[in-house]
Amino acid sequence: MTASVVIAVDGPVAAGKGTLARRLADKYGYAYLDTGSLYRAVGAKVLRAGGDPADADFAARMAESLADSDLAAPDLRSEAVGLAASKVAVVPGVRAALLDYQQRFAHRPPGGKPGAVLDGRDIGTVVCPDAAVKLFVTARDEVRAGRRHKELMDKGESVTFERVLDDLRRRDEQDRARSTAPLKPADDAHLLDTSDLAIEAAVTAAVDIITATLKP
Ligand code: CDP
Repeated sequence: MTASVVIAVDGPVAAGKGTLARRLADKYGYAYLDTGSLYRAVGAKVLRAGGDPADADFAARMAESLADSDLAAPDLRSEAVGLAASKVAVVPGVRAALLDYQQRFAHRPPGGKPGAVLDGRDIGTVVCPDAAVKLFVTARDEVRAGRRHKELMDKGESVTFERVLDDLRRRDEQDRARSTAPLKPADDAHLLDTSDLAIEAAVTAAVDIITATLKP
């Protein structure tokens, strides 16, 4: 069996990783995994059980018992769940419980697909350090907050731009400061700033990087 081609897409909150990664997976016929949804599912499960996301033992137990139905929870994309996700994500036991699933997905993509695109925070550094291509997607804080604010308003969540900007900075700080698998570009990652790029232009820029990197 030939090894699966893995494309790692990492970056801070609302940098456009998800849309970009999904588009790349479509283009190359690869499987796509939004690894943030796993941490969101653990955060949501803790909140639902009335627990504290900062309680490491409890969060780790919730991660170990994660089921498919938890990944379908309707509130996964809310701001409250995003913050809880970022809190449980500092817990080594939570990260360990989710690692195996992510690595299996990458190396043996579902549906027998020839490759996988994973987006998250530590794909290029911890989950798939041997990924064929690593992208680190960024954008200015205000641009990212504007995108996330629009996404939340479109879904009917009433929240101010300032609040979204504040939450985003708090979550990035938490993600960068943790000692286990902090948010940072891998040494061999390609940086892609999408501040002034519409989605089509971001996809084109990413494809150019992938083509150049995979060139035999
Ligand atoms: O979509 P957004 O950028 O808001 O975040 P997400 O990708 O859904 O991830 C939610 C949270 O999960 C992040 O703030 C991280 O704390 C955590 N996470 C992580 O630690 N490692 C990953 N590979 C993916 C997400």
